[in-house]
Amino acid sequence: MDLDLRFPALSDLRRRARQRIPHFAWEYLDSATGTESVKHRNRAALDAVRLQPAVLDGDLTIDLATDLLGQRQSAPFGIAPLGMSGLIWPGAEAALARLAARQGFPFCLSTVATRLPEEIGPLAGDRGWFQLYPPRDPGIRADLLRRARAAGFRVLVLTVDVPAPSRRERQLRADLAFPPKKTPRMFMQAALRPRWALGTVRMGVPRLRLMEEYRKLDGNAPSTGHAGYLLRVNPDWDYVAALRDAWDGPLVLKGILRPDDALRARAAGADGIWVSNHAGRQFDGGPATIEVLPAIRAALGADFPVIADGGVDSGLDILRMLACGADFVMLGRAWHYALAALGPRGAAHLDHILCQDLIANLWQLGLTRPQDAKTRLWPAPAKPAP
Ligand SMILES: Cc1cc2nc3c(=O)[nH]c(=O)nc-3n(C[C@H](O)[C@H](O)[C@H](O)COP(=O)(O)O)c2cc1C
Repeated sequence: MDLDLRFPALSDLRRRARQRIPHFAWEYLDSATGTESVKHRNRAALDAVRLQPAVLDGDLTIDLATDLLGQRQSAPFGIAPLGMSGLIWPGAEAALARLAARQGFPFCLSTVATRLPEEIGPLAGDRGWFQLYPPRDPGIRADLLRRARAAGFRVLVLTVDVPAPSRRERQLRADLAFPPKKTPRMFMQAALRPRWALGTVRMGVPRLRLMEEYRKLDGNAPSTGHAGYLLRVNPDWDYVAALRDAWDGPLVLKGILRPDDALRARAAGADGIWVSNHAGRQFDGGPATIEVLPAIRAALGADFPVIADGGVDSGLDILRMLACGADFVMLGRAWHYALAALGPRGAAHLDHILCQDLIANLWQLGLTRPQDAKTRLWPAPAKPAP
């Protein structure tokens, strides 16, 4: 099957994914919170960013490689952390970690993945990042960091935009409560998706394996309920300072949307920030990520690493993010639509789509490197007064 003909864009993979995963897993992946205005705003704001083509540049030798946090990446994009991604597609974490290692770009494992750091770290090679939801208990935190380091994860990402659970009404309507309940309706939905169901039987029911291990060690643990309770703490700047002391590799704060927080993150010793609105899953009243990038970049100056995500569907979207101030772009849902559509070769196909789209659009812009997209922003930003 020629994948380029059948699935030329992410939208084709997304459509097929919907036919292959049960409704509750689809709702988990695809939903946001509230009326999902931030999710739609991310998309609309990307579409609104214009880049001005340049002509008559002759032959171009395009190079997608990008340096980030002391490492050369093969392309300016990577894989954002998704909790419970094994629920979306059986074996998701392993498939994506392998792809990242093979292709040479980052894969970020969530604290609430369905696989353990020890299983996934070696598959990600030197491309593994570990995302931390802050544990309440300093002992658990220290142990998590030790395990992440020992499993080969190079970059630590602290997610700071989940101060409390959000409502995610679509998930509730689909019976997806935490702690999870297995309802007859869910079994029916799973039975209608045999590939997903067989894969899930083979891999085991998706669970928060890492936190469950700690729950077993916790004498005060409630006998019922969700292992996620171990994580429910809203960190503060002292927490960041403690983490900075405890982790000797690159540290990134994920979920920053304001220039003052970006400056404070840098002052607190972060090596980079990740501009994200959690794909609209936490707060439905905020701006699109691409809308806040220019002010954050202006506050930080040229050299401090800024990663961004939110609604990115294509190589052109990646160029838009870079043009507005990002150094690097992460995608979350997109990889999972691709996996659910075609399994691991779907994720590899998405990598191919993104690279081909980057190259095609760089030609239009007369550029050889994605990082130069900012020179094509239209209208050009006003120069600061001398
Ligand atoms: C189903 C789902 C689960 C997520 N789980 C996590 C998580 O465990 N940790 C985290 O930092 N971000 C999580 N995120 C946010 C992503 O890391 C990322 O910021 C977002 O998905 C990017 O937007 P995009 O999906 O439009 O590319 C999750 C997002 C989705 C859609």
